[in-house]
Amino acid sequence: MQIPRLHPDTIEEIKQRADIVDVVSEHVVLRKRGKDFVGLCPFHDEKSPSFTVSQTKQMYYCFGCQAGGNAIKFLMDLGKHSFAEVVLDLARRYQVPVQTLAPEQRQELQRQISLREQLYEVLASAGQFYQHALRQSQEKKAYQYLQSDRQLKEETIQQFGLGYAPAGWETLHRYLVEDKHYPVQLVEKAGLIKPRKEGSGYYDVFRDRLMIPIRDIQGRVIAFGGRTLSDEQPKYLNSPETELFSKGKTLFALDQAKGGISQLDGAIVVEGYFDAIALHAAGITNAVASLGTALSIEQVRLILRYTESKQLILNFDADKAGNIAAERAIGEIAELAYKGEVQLKILNIPDGKDADEYLYTHTPEDYGQLLANAPLWLDWQIQQIIADRDLKQATDFQQVTQQIVKLLKNIANSDTRNYYVSHCAEILSLGDTRLIPLRVENLLTQIAPSTTAYSTPLTSKKKADSRKITYSSVTGDRSLLELAEALLLRIYLHCPEQRQTIVDTLEERDLEFSLSHHRFLWQKILESGGEQVDFVSSLQDRYLELSEEIELVSHLFHVNETSKKEMLRTPQVVQAAIACMERVLREKRYRHFLELWQQTDSEAEPEKWQSYYQSFYNEKLRLQELDRQRQFSITDLL
Ligand code: UTP
Ligand code: MN
Repeated sequence: MQIPRLHPDTIEEIKQRADIVDVVSEHVVLRKRGKDFVGLCPFHDEKSPSFTVSQTKQMYYCFGCQAGGNAIKFLMDLGKHSFAEVVLDLARRYQVPVQTLAPEQRQELQRQISLREQLYEVLASAGQFYQHALRQSQEKKAYQYLQSDRQLKEETIQQFGLGYAPAGWETLHRYLVEDKHYPVQLVEKAGLIKPRKEGSGYYDVFRDRLMIPIRDIQGRVIAFGGRTLSDEQPKYLNSPETELFSKGKTLFALDQAKGGISQLDGAIVVEGYFDAIALHAAGITNAVASLGTALSIEQVRLILRYTESKQLILNFDADKAGNIAAERAIGEIAELAYKGEVQLKILNIPDGKDADEYLYTHTPEDYGQLLANAPLWLDWQIQQIIADRDLKQATDFQQVTQQIVKLLKNIANSDTRNYYVSHCAEILSLGDTRLIPLRVENLLTQIAPSTTAYSTPLTSKKKADSRKITYSSVTGDRSLLELAEALLLRIYLHCPEQRQTIVDTLEERDLEFSLSHHRFLWQKILESGGEQVDFVSSLQDRYLELSEEIELVSHLFHVNETSKKEMLRTPQVVQAAIACMERVLREKRYRHFLELWQQTDSEAEPEKWQSYYQSFYNEKLRLQELDRQRQFSITDLL
């Protein structure tokens, strides 16, 4: 798009409205320090924050790299955008009417922003109407409900702008359309009225309900939640999705909580509107509510903007269905938690209470104590797994182990995973410390197949897919073997310094490639001597005519970025891949000798019997050794 020349008034107005702290916060985690905010500089690499933002001066400055300027300069430098691009974008976001020197372009831009702007206005107006009605309505039942049932002070009622939607069918409609002259379509687009099914006209969406405004980060009303004051269903009626409101992208009370979250460097996420309100009223100012849905990644990212150490405490109703409720609530963010991108803790209030109920009978300090003792998400999950189980019972023990293995498999960071492996091994040892090493080994073996790095580590999604197919069992797994062999061949082809080791080791251990196309390539490699500098391309040229066989292995001739990375760890990979090949051979021999031994009569042929026993036992030991080698390499590789 051609950028129009902007009127100087527009630029001035944008500078006034686009608060530098808001603008920078979207890209940098800021913490309050004295009058200013500090964070890690996005313009250079640093470990401790020297990037400062001053709200009073509306400027940023980095003591490390001397970058500095206002909000517009910040966005220009960060995104390599032009001045006009940044200004227009800010104009859209902050609803600044754009005046350009070319009138047609101005109209177009104006149209884009004006609908949203008008929606904000209508919703603000509705909010005022509801607030007014709360204090005006005849019986005052809503106001009394807030005061006595909810024990809220006037101050809190005002802070959250709570209101009341009168019982009539078109009170709000009349107010907004007739008194305030808002176009009826606009009020409908705001989600406040609906067209009647029969006849013409509109009726109010919210009737006889306690009204809770939902605001965006900047504090503008974008939707409402309405609680019934009777037994009517649903208990809470929420605004529909609109141009301004999307449930999955919004967190209730974030506008009130953002300061608290950055000050306390962590956030509490509750389920209900009134849980968040009650926490704020109790002086716990870093609480937001999820609007009763599973947390989305977008919602979590919104919160994490304000906390440097990425701490999130989920305080969801535990009683509903225990584990399941919280699992569901965690929604998409389990992935973030497994990756360590969010420090997730779970708070279950005793007796299945929600935060609001708890605070009727407890002090804010009591709640603080609960927060301090809330377990990390993984610990909480382990607690859930072992709760009500008797580990002395074989079935319970087995089921618990299986669930724990499933959990451990998902932990991406190897240090974290190792920590939890020993933690769980301890639990499974039931106080007998001599058992711990055995349990550790057992857990490691069980989680290993899905975490081996034989597959090219592509995107996480691809990896997850390939896992399913590839590592279904530890032993006799053809795909795992195929990967190991292919990897070895690739290393041979592309890492000349490894060639001798590979040839020697295979020979020493008397190992063969199992897959025929691999055997074929290996044979060609050995025939050609493998000495030339341009080995790969000459090999390819030479066997061009053998199209069928070469096709199956031709992918090995190319290295992409991921396989290159893999090769940086070649000594371990070679070890692990060869161990994997040898395992297949040993497994066969083990089964062979075991069978012979079982078929031999120990009394008739005691020597034979003894020798078979010795053979299969030796194979078994070797198998264990190979598993250890693979294990060692596996943990090393991650
Ligand atoms: P809860 O049913 O747990 O209720 O809903 P609550 O918040 O404790 O309600 P009170 O204390 O009886 O007033 C938790 C949240 O789920 C959403 C709301 O955001 C609510 O705060 N919800 C619940 C709905 O959107 N619709 C419903 O019908 C119920
Ligand atoms: Mn409640």
